[in-house]
Amino acid sequence: MNLEKVCVDLKTRSYNILIGQNLLNQIGLFCRSILPSQKGVLIGDSNTTALYKEDCLISLLKENFHVSSWQFQAGEKSKNLTILGRLYDFLAEEKLDRKSFLIALGGGVVGDIVGLAAATYLRGIPFIQVPTTLLAQVDSSVGGKTAIDLPSGKNLVGAFYQPNLVLCDVNLLKTLPRRELICGLAEVVKYGIILDRDFFDFLETHIEGILALETSLLTTVVKRCCELKASVTAADETETGKRAILNFGHTIAHAIEVVSGYGKYTHGEAVAIGSLIACKLSETLMGFPPAETERIEKFFIKIGLPVSLVSTEIRSVDSLVLAMQNDKKTLAGIPRFVLVQHIGEAKFGCQVPESLLRKSIEEFIR
Ligand SMILES: NC(=O)c1ccc[n+]([C@@H]2O[C@H](COP(=O)([O-])OP(=O)(O)OC[C@H]3O[C@@H](n4cnc5c(N)ncnc54)[C@H](O)[C@@H]3O)[C@@H](O)[C@H]2O)c1
Ligand SMILES: [Zn+2]
Repeated sequence: MNLEKVCVDLKTRSYNILIGQNLLNQIGLFCRSILPSQKGVLIGDSNTTALYKEDCLISLLKENFHVSSWQFQAGEKSKNLTILGRLYDFLAEEKLDRKSFLIALGGGVVGDIVGLAAATYLRGIPFIQVPTTLLAQVDSSVGGKTAIDLPSGKNLVGAFYQPNLVLCDVNLLKTLPRRELICGLAEVVKYGIILDRDFFDFLETHIEGILALETSLLTTVVKRCCELKASVTAADETETGKRAILNFGHTIAHAIEVVSGYGKYTHGEAVAIGSLIACKLSETLMGFPPAETERIEKFFIKIGLPVSLVSTEIRSVDSLVLAMQNDKKTLAGIPRFVLVQHIGEAKFGCQVPESLLRKSIEEFIR
């Protein structure tokens, strides 16, 4: 078995990310040595529960874990206080104690809600992440951020809380809808652009195999992304500095998502367009070579990501700029950007003149 491991070094709260294939049906074995109790609750959404709950429970039962299960309707709309409240009620009914554990079986939505429940129930209980989307395996399950949405905005209530283990079984990606896979790839390419030129080259060379879900390639890709995210977040656990680099393309992406109404563009699609606009800004402000912007654009097209905005879907450049000024990450209404010097090296906290921002966005509207 090809089992890869990334250690996230956070002193007393360090944990491992295991990456490979056929890991889900051995989850009991992996949990055996790291959990202080035999009692827990497995939580998934309606899709991941239907697909993977049984395998998970059978493996846990083999190791004498007593695990009950709970699920909610799939989708971002469920990442709210009502569902979190129902989950707390279930945990109370099940009489979980402070050593009992939670398992999050799903994409970022499940990971975020279950992580927040684990962070807060009885002031914190152990939890395990089993990310089932590419986005969750390379991004949301690593770094310790948990959250729910409020009607007034995404991820407004949350906590920093680390899991005891993350289990990335790349085989689970085989049932993922194509659009979700492609969405995750936008984040994968982001790591190459901001942190690792060799990784970007590797992705370009192997993209056909990655899109065909070759397990050894997926294992390599997920592992490298986890290493990169873990190293950045371990150095800056609560996002006061370098971690901001991971927001490359995201200031613009969030504005695109807000203005177009969530759902028109997936998060990854918005990130792809946001990344290209950030590259354009970098050409003027950081000397980023235009040929590199073209290279990234061609690569996104090959992956199946959009590289421009449809004018009817984003109202106006004004509305995008306004959304950026209202973003919760904005300092005093002035959006900050992550820009790139060249592929593999980025700088955070950059200010961009509004006129340049407008001009660069306009270039991407078709
Ligand atoms: N905590 C963080 O650091 C962090 C980082 C990035 C994103 N996020 C959050 O993650 C969420 C997005 O995560 P996501 O893209 O994984 O979305 P998601 O969890 O909604 O999953 C997408 C869809 O795929 C389905 N699905 C999941 N795994 C599947 C599988 N293996 N086979 C078939 N279908 C499957 C889900 O049921 C859902 O319908 C957002 O809420 C975002 O805010 C959090
Ligand atoms: Zn993202």
